[in-house]
Amino acid sequence: MYQKWFLLVSVLVLSAKLCTGQVLQFGTCGDVPPMQFFDLERFLGEWYEIERFPHWYERYGECAYLRFQYCERRVEIEHIYVRTGVRFILQQNSSYAPGDEAIFMIDSSNIDPIGIPMSVLNTDYSNYAVVYGCKYNENLDIKYLSAWILSRTSDLSEEMLQRAYQVLNSIPYANIAYLEKVEQRTNLCKFHWTAVIAAENITDTMRTQTISDDGVLALL
Ligand SMILES: *[C@@H]1O[C@H](CO)[C@@H](O)[C@H](O)[C@H]1NC(C)=O
Ligand SMILES: *[C@@H]1O[C@H](CO)[C@@H](O)[C@H](O)[C@H]1NC(C)=O
Repeated sequence: MYQKWFLLVSVLVLSAKLCTGQVLQFGTCGDVPPMQFFDLERFLGEWYEIERFPHWYERYGECAYLRFQYCERRVEIEHIYVRTGVRFILQQNSSYAPGDEAIFMIDSSNIDPIGIPMSVLNTDYSNYAVVYGCKYNENLDIKYLSAWILSRTSDLSEEMLQRAYQVLNSIPYANIAYLEKVEQRTNLCKFHWTAVIAAENITDTMRTQTISDDGVLALL
């Protein structure tokens, strides 16, 4: 019984957070194949975030970019952004072997308690990329969606942006209405401190707590 209540509270909290926190929907993820003939070498490096679905862990983070580095059959993915004068560098690893599909699996961690994978849906390597993720939680019958429109420079031409919208619109559940613009203006990018946060494995019980903690506090 307690367990049920706990789940219910979590669900309420999760849906309440929808407006700012994270894109959530009922039901399973659709089948979304990543791009074919993906060339990791050419994809590596820095990608500015032009627009993205809101995520818990990047909330209100401006001047954001992603950095992909390959080392010992691992792709290290860094989310770098500035929030109120502090630069955050979130580091996660995804195992990757040459020839793998264009999907980076993410373990659930203190950074992303859900562990939403990152699939490259399309990229021309030198201008833009569309990255998408979906993870289904059977217990709650909820899926968590993420998406980024990325650019090699801090802006993206209208033509490329429209192309990226088309890619996102062509897959199930990923409405471009969820997208928020990421500020890349220099005055918002100033920072005085840097916080480096490396992903640490967490257990399943901790995961539930992490999700509901601040929500439950808010309800009390
Ligand atoms: C990622 O993997 C590299 C190489 O094995 C390691 O040095 C680094 O500490 C790892 N980072 C995280 C966040 O686990
Ligand atoms: C985290 O745990 C998973 C599964 O238990 C394991 O496969 C993975 O290597 C761990 N990751 C790190 C960075 O320790």
